[in-house]
Amino acid sequence: MARATALALRGWGRVAPNPLVGAVLLRDGTPVADGFHAEYGGPHAEAAALARCDDARGTTCVVTLEPCAHHGKTPPCADALIAAGVTRVVIAGRDPGAEARGGVERLRAAGVEVTIGTEAREAAAMNAAYLWGVARPERPFVALKLATSVDGFIADVAGGSKWISGEAAREFVHWLRAGFDAIGVGRRTVEVDDPALTVRGAVVPRNVPLRVVFARDGMVPSDGRLIATASETATLVIVGSGVAGRAAAQLGRFGVRVLGADGLGDALRVLRGEGVRSLLVEGGGQLAGALLDAGLVDRLYWIQSPIWLGGGVTAFGTRNAVPLGEALPWSVVERRALGPDTLLVVDRELCLPAS
Ligand SMILES: NC(=O)c1ccc[n+]([C@@H]2O[C@H](COP(=O)([O-])OP(=O)(O)OC[C@H]3O[C@@H](n4cnc5c(N)ncnc54)[C@H](OP(=O)(O)O)[C@@H]3O)[C@@H](O)[C@H]2O)c1
Repeated sequence: MARATALALRGWGRVAPNPLVGAVLLRDGTPVADGFHAEYGGPHAEAAALARCDDARGTTCVVTLEPCAHHGKTPPCADALIAAGVTRVVIAGRDPGAEARGGVERLRAAGVEVTIGTEAREAAAMNAAYLWGVARPERPFVALKLATSVDGFIADVAGGSKWISGEAAREFVHWLRAGFDAIGVGRRTVEVDDPALTVRGAVVPRNVPLRVVFARDGMVPSDGRLIATASETATLVIVGSGVAGRAAAQLGRFGVRVLGADGLGDALRVLRGEGVRSLLVEGGGQLAGALLDAGLVDRLYWIQSPIWLGGGVTAFGTRNAVPLGEALPWSVVERRALGPDTLLVVDRELCLPAS
């Protein structure tokens, strides 16, 4: 399953709104073929693995998601596995999607032995945005990514945050961006950092992420990179509904879309209405704190750099303090080194489908 999960991740940035899926065919415990869902509309992982196997009769298929039972852009994978003579299917998690589910029942009805739940946590974490979209379609899955000093600052006292983290972390961030529908920042970050918020890594996303600025008063500097490139890369500014008309008049001529919303919850609903299923918020601290306080962050990507700033812009400008005994534990999804930096990925609640 670990191998199937690693394969599935190769579809990152290319398959949404479909889930990431990887599959390995084994004969007597030895892998004989594998495949993954590489492109939206293209073959599913099971079909890709079967296509690379001369004779799949009597094999076991290990797959990160329940094989589909529906005719979508491709025929049902459950039927393909049955027709190929696969005798056992090991699945990490069931597919909660209304259209696709039912593969397990179809396989079992055909006499295929099915096991569900192997490394379910890892597979669910990988597809968190997809699972969220099925269970909670009213707003996008929200991930917060911050790079901090070891003492928890996202910028020095002068506001400078360029190169807090190193090269490997920056490469990771470009990979990360490719897998999200939208990338958001607070107005101050636009003023101070003048970010491009584009994907400039090895993975070229199928859809370029929408750039979103949260600015209640609508006062986004018009001489920055976001505005200058808005005609090439879709850019949206979310402002208070009372100033939406004025902001649209100011920013619309640069090709920027302006939408009004009252509060962050409303802003997220507006984004979902625009087709945004997953949002990566990249700071700064005020926006991060407001989202955290409102319980609107589902995942945190925290990159901690081994530098000591001793003061500066606080990473998590939260206000809702709770006693230790009442603090909710988040689930650790991943810990790893990114060059000299450390990545910690935690989820507020793990989006596990029923098995
Ligand atoms: N190391 C990192 O990962 C990283 C990432 C990003 C930024 N930074 C650094 O962080 C600094 C900027 O961060 P910051 O904390 O000062 O500002 P910020 O979070 O980028 O922006 C704050 C602004 O966001 C807008 N906003 C919209 N809705 C909000 C809400 N519900 N609550 C609070 N704000 C809301 C507000 O503008 P309105 O008043 O118009 O509503 C507010 O002034 C810069 O120095 C930048 O270099 C570091």
